[in-house]
Amino acid sequence: MNELKNKVAIITGATGGIGRAAASRFAEEGARLVLADLDADLGEALVKDIRELGGDAIFVRTDVAKPHDHEHLVEAALKNYGRLDAAFNNAGISDGPMPPGLVEYPLELWDRIIAINLSGVFYAMRAQIPAMLKNGGGSIVNTGSVASQIAFAGVPGYVAAKHGVLGLTKAAALEYGARGLRCNVIAPGIIETPMTAPVLSNAQFREHTASTIPAGRVGRAEEIADMALWLCSDRGSYANGACFAVDGGYLAR
Ligand SMILES: NC(=O)c1ccc[n+]([C@@H]2O[C@H](COP(=O)([O-])OP(=O)(O)OC[C@H]3O[C@@H](n4cnc5c(N)ncnc54)[C@H](O)[C@@H]3O)[C@@H](O)[C@H]2O)c1
Repeated sequence: MNELKNKVAIITGATGGIGRAAASRFAEEGARLVLADLDADLGEALVKDIRELGGDAIFVRTDVAKPHDHEHLVEAALKNYGRLDAAFNNAGISDGPMPPGLVEYPLELWDRIIAINLSGVFYAMRAQIPAMLKNGGGSIVNTGSVASQIAFAGVPGYVAAKHGVLGLTKAAALEYGARGLRCNVIAPGIIETPMTAPVLSNAQFREHTASTIPAGRVGRAEEIADMALWLCSDRGSYANGACFAVDGGYLAR
């Protein structure tokens, strides 16, 4: 119940599948939450749910592709709770259910996916790190993907951004490890969330996908949330600069 007691944590993409599961788990474990996403109505509804369950949370409307929004988010954490201990930088988009190939890949989609999935994590860390160092460090967990480690044809923007998230996280781990800050990546396999609903609603796709995963099924958002929780808690104290696959064994192939 108290894995994150007294810790102040930012979660981005908080109203989506994985973010929402993480918000619930972090709140159950005593974290004070600063939740960030695009839709203020969904965000305030999530805060209400968490407070009804006895948790402590605020919502700050944030576009992760805007550096200033991250500064505002960290300021809100410091103003409301006086400190920042952890961040789960989890907001992200996919290339879409039927992406084109690399040559046909639209330039606007490239710019958008890099801005949200990669630059969004850089802007987040840039704002969060000074606040965490003020109280002796903390834990940053960035959501990568199995596409942080291996490529998939047809989704070059997503693969490039998620590989970039891993490189960025390792660079930060080297730079700040001696100052009490840990930076890690979670690499989810395919997880049942609103992002994957359009493809997983296709029974044939779902069955084929499950057959490529040693666990024989897709994952649940709560299974990613539990890894984020462990990494943000003091139990993850010796984990730094690493990529934690939570993928039913997919990357073991
Ligand atoms: N679901 C999967 O199979 C899977 C697999 C690997 C990695 N991931 C990653 O997990 C993370 C969460 O994905 P999910 O499956 O929960 O998807 P989701 O679509 O349910 O949630 C993503 C959330 O990010 C928010 N978001 C998107 N753009 C934003 C922006 N510019 N500013 C602020 N918030 C923004 C969305 O509003 C949404 O609430 C993403 O980074 C995704 O790439 C998901």
